[in-house]
Amino acid sequence: MFFYYMKSLLITGGAGFIGSHVVRRMVNNYPEYKIYNLDKLTYAGNLENLKDIEAKPNYEFIKGDIQDFDFVNKIFQDKNLDGVIHLAAESHVDRSITNPLEFVMTNVVGTVNLLNAAKNHWGIDLSDKRFYHVSTDEVYGALGEVGLFTEDTKYDPHSPYSASKASSDHFVRAYYDTYGLPVVISNCSNNYGSHHFPEKLIPLCIHNIKNNKPLPIYGDGKYTRDWLFVEDHARAIDDVFHKGKLGETYNIGGFNEWQNIDLVKLLCDVMDEKLGQEVGTSQKLITFVKDRPGHDLRYAIDASKIESELGWRPSVNFEQGLEKTVAWYLANDEWLNNVTSGNYQDYYSKQYQSS
Ligand code: NAD
Ligand code: TYD
Repeated sequence: MFFYYMKSLLITGGAGFIGSHVVRRMVNNYPEYKIYNLDKLTYAGNLENLKDIEAKPNYEFIKGDIQDFDFVNKIFQDKNLDGVIHLAAESHVDRSITNPLEFVMTNVVGTVNLLNAAKNHWGIDLSDKRFYHVSTDEVYGALGEVGLFTEDTKYDPHSPYSASKASSDHFVRAYYDTYGLPVVISNCSNNYGSHHFPEKLIPLCIHNIKNNKPLPIYGDGKYTRDWLFVEDHARAIDDVFHKGKLGETYNIGGFNEWQNIDLVKLLCDVMDEKLGQEVGTSQKLITFVKDRPGHDLRYAIDASKIESELGWRPSVNFEQGLEKTVAWYLANDEWLNNVTSGNYQDYYSKQYQSS
């Protein structure tokens, strides 16, 4: 029997950290949608993240590079897409400082390729089409000790990563204003949870505590981030995709600000407890290292718009989320060992060589 899917949805970057949570959610919750996961499988993309859903009939993986317009255009031609949730990106600030051009190529050129392909194929009948661009709060720059980013905060990116994401956001809005492409954007704060590549603060510290290695804290550790559990972000993405108003931006955040040093101390205590060690053991690994250039002091999101308009709020508090995250990493040694071999070892020794 031939099954007609109600919608054909392209998710880019679905083998990465957030993307894999979004793909899993959409494949499981919407069996009536066909979900195509397009990913280049860079160092950050890992199909092991999707083992549990890869055999589902409404899921298909497509390996490819959004920098390649002909390839992207052909996907639109072949798959008759109704929607796009675009997450593929180079995502690590420290890597953007050493290799900014790759960030321009994927985050800016790749996004414009997708926009062009959507514009070409969707034509003038846009009634049930939607291009959803997933972005970051880092486009707004840095806050001082008070205040929150709202959807109206002026863009002021400082790193090559945030500059490339800001640029891609501007292109998405330009396609709405110029061509009437049905777009929606969200800007989210720092995520944490399972399947997070261990170059980012939380999984890096979990990995290093397990291996009794120093926990590198940039500068004085007083930098502040607003942390959101990744499954809550995936739920927000689902809500924005289905209910968000076209042409609008939604800020997504955790209502959960932490200075890096306090966060790492809490994480050390959770790890000590889980590893059956005396509390205080892991904190001894904390090591202050040379600061990141252009380091933004503080990010914090005002998520009242998505809360009032779409009824979304985080469902997991930080203690619960951190607990779940640590438990996942401790139960998934093989995943961690696989992603920390090869390329990662080279990156790590270069990144932390002068510390
Ligand atoms: P990630 O680095 O874990 O995953 C990115 C994915 O994109 C990987 O699977 C990678 O293989 C794929 N990719 C990279 N270049 C590609 C290309 N040229 N063509 C096709 N695929 C390519 O990133 P993440 O942390 O999951 O972030 C996903 C998105 O969410 C990004 O757009 C990021 O800017 C945004 N975001 C991330 C956070 C966060 O805290 N991680 C917060 C807010 C927004
Ligand atoms: P990160 O996880 O790289 O996310 P982002 O830069 O997108 O916010 O970093 C989170 C914070 O932790 C940021 O202030 C930089 C800091 N940090 C360290 O202090 N040491 C580290 O080794 C890393 C990777 C980050």
